[in-house]
Amino acid sequence: MAATTGNKELTRDLFNKIAPHYDFVNSLASFGRHHYWRRTLIELSGVFPGASVLDVCCGTGMITFELAQKTGCAGKVIGVDFAEGMLRFARGKRDYLRFRDRIELITADALDLPFADDTFDCAVIGYGLRNVTDLRRALLEIKRVLKPGGKLASLELAHPNPPVFKDIYYFYLNHWIPLLGKLFAGNRSAYLYLNKSVREYPHQRRITQIFEELGFLNTQCLELTWGIAAIHVGTKPMFNNIKG
Ligand SMILES: C[S@@+](CC[C@H](N)C(=O)[O-])C[C@H]1O[C@@H](n2cnc3c(N)ncnc32)[C@H](O)[C@@H]1O
Repeated sequence: MAATTGNKELTRDLFNKIAPHYDFVNSLASFGRHHYWRRTLIELSGVFPGASVLDVCCGTGMITFELAQKTGCAGKVIGVDFAEGMLRFARGKRDYLRFRDRIELITADALDLPFADDTFDCAVIGYGLRNVTDLRRALLEIKRVLKPGGKLASLELAHPNPPVFKDIYYFYLNHWIPLLGKLFAGNRSAYLYLNKSVREYPHQRRITQIFEELGFLNTQCLELTWGIAAIHVGTKPMFNNIKG
């Protein structure tokens, strides 16, 4: 879940470096909660058997592969990420999966998706919006490639609201996550960025507004685990309601 903000090359380098330990440190740092958060994301994504689905910033493929279990033998899931190191792990895991021939993993930039307009039934982005250098552009790109009526679901770390819990959480983020990063990934600085990126990322209420400003309809925000994470969903209108 680590990240830099503002510099594409640094972000890509960082994820290439932490790729071998990414899944393990994620599980550890979130006390396993990320499985529940991802499952909830997939439930809210609108995925169905036979759907064509895009997973943006797919990383090591954890969400991509769960989506493929839902779309089944008649569906198609495409994961895109710009860090080859992360995709290498995703490709290694894919080889052992059911429906592996229905999963494509592509090296691409979320800010310039290599797909035609109106391609996908639904799209997800897991811990990706916080890491891209231009949040609005990423959302507009996803909206462009969704079919009219298609749904986007985004899972991201957020800002907890309960006062004492919030203090404990930020203490954990500031001190323990970098330590876990050092101990288990040999990279303290990469995990220091997590704190920075979470603090700089807009509050979940603001993200809801941004979805609406960009023309997504039926926008909803679901806070998870007292607001440590949040899922935003929105639907692409049947007719273009904003120029991107
Ligand atoms: C925190 S990881 C999330 C991976 C995965 N979605 C998950 O749930 O574990 C963020 C991913 O976003 C990717 N990323 C960041 N900016 C990107 C961009 N502009 N284009 C494509 N991928 C990007 C990184 O390479 C990294 O793999």
